[in-house]
Amino acid sequence: MKGIFPINKFRELRTPFYYYDTDLLRNTLTCVRDELKKYSSYAVHYAVKANANHKVLSIIRENGFGADCVSGGEIKAAIKAGFPVKKIVFAGVGKADWEINLALDYDIFCFNVESIPELEVINELAAAKGKTANVAFRINPNVGAHTHANITTGLAENKFGISMQDMDKVVDVALEMKNVKFIGLHFHIGSQILDMGDYIALCNRINELQDKLEARRIRIDYINVGGGLGIDYQHPNRQAVPNFQNYFVTYAEHLKLRSYQTLHFELGRSMVGQCGSLISKVLYVKQGTNKQFAILDAGMTDLIRPALYQAYHKIENITSDEAVETYDVVGPICESSDVFGKAIDLNRVKRGDLIALRSAGAYGEIMASSYNCRELPQGYVSEELV
Ligand code: LLP
Repeated sequence: MKGIFPINKFRELRTPFYYYDTDLLRNTLTCVRDELKKYSSYAVHYAVKANANHKVLSIIRENGFGADCVSGGEIKAAIKAGFPVKKIVFAGVGKADWEINLALDYDIFCFNVESIPELEVINELAAAKGKTANVAFRINPNVGAHTHANITTGLAENKFGISMQDMDKVVDVALEMKNVKFIGLHFHIGSQILDMGDYIALCNRINELQDKLEARRIRIDYINVGGGLGIDYQHPNRQAVPNFQNYFVTYAEHLKLRSYQTLHFELGRSMVGQCGSLISKVLYVKQGTNKQFAILDAGMTDLIRPALYQAYHKIENITSDEAVETYDVVGPICESSDVFGKAIDLNRVKRGDLIALRSAGAYGEIMASSYNCRELPQGYVSEELV
């Protein structure tokens, strides 16, 4: 065992694979729960898109959280993991009819609706089943987030949500409909956000919108502020559990929640990001002209974040204590962007060494593809490897 990994067990497994440290996952979830105890009207719906590994989902469900789903497949995964249907919300800018029908059949808690045409379809499909669907409107608050351009969502230029100017119109349309019940507002400004100022800007915007609705005597019971809390990719061990205290306090201090309202969060990355690592084996060490390459058996098909967002994941050689050398760490895929990191210092690497790509619990396994006809990586939780 070097550090936190059961190396001997790893040696028996086919690489690459995802490894989830369930002690850390449980600790993280306990911290979220402890914080939530301070606020009786707050609830967290875990964003299933971050990681839908069945064992991970089951542990999250055991801890009493709800599920935020963005597809029929995610709803099925949440239900399979035992999430109560009344704790499932369904978001997404393009819900297909079969997905809406599935959600209606399960009587999930709420649809987060992103346009009038979508609202009309939900109303129609609910009418056909003789049901009434709870709906919340996802409002695009035009609040920027200081994060990567590909994962900011709350600007007017993004495809997500209904613009603030259209809010009144959409609410009027919903109030006229017989098979939808308008219950609240939904927001999400982006992901991997570490600057609490971004959330303060969101709170201020929600306060304005609430005042507008109240002036029209429209009551809403439910506000959903999405997710987005970031993690420390540079130092996965330094603060393995994100600062949830600070995050919830920010909302408590800046959002004017009415006494009868509940506030929902959709945290994804912050709940599962640090507990996961992608474990890979070194196939070859190749000398280039001015550099050396460590060629892994994991590639962008297993972890796409570096290729897609130039994301940083800390890379460690977990089977060597030899002197440090510098490598470009690359995968085997036929794409120049299949690079995990350039000029990375690692304990000297040789064929067969195991390499950990850290902080890969969120948007790792779930975004894997079978490009190049590769097999999808397996996911193992620590408690099944003892
Ligand atoms: N709620 C909504 C409406 C969302 O769109 C998202 C993420 C979340 C909640 C959860 O956000 P989190 O707490 O995980 O930041 N694949 C990208 C991240 C995409 C996030 C998409 N939406 C990545 O690897 O960084």
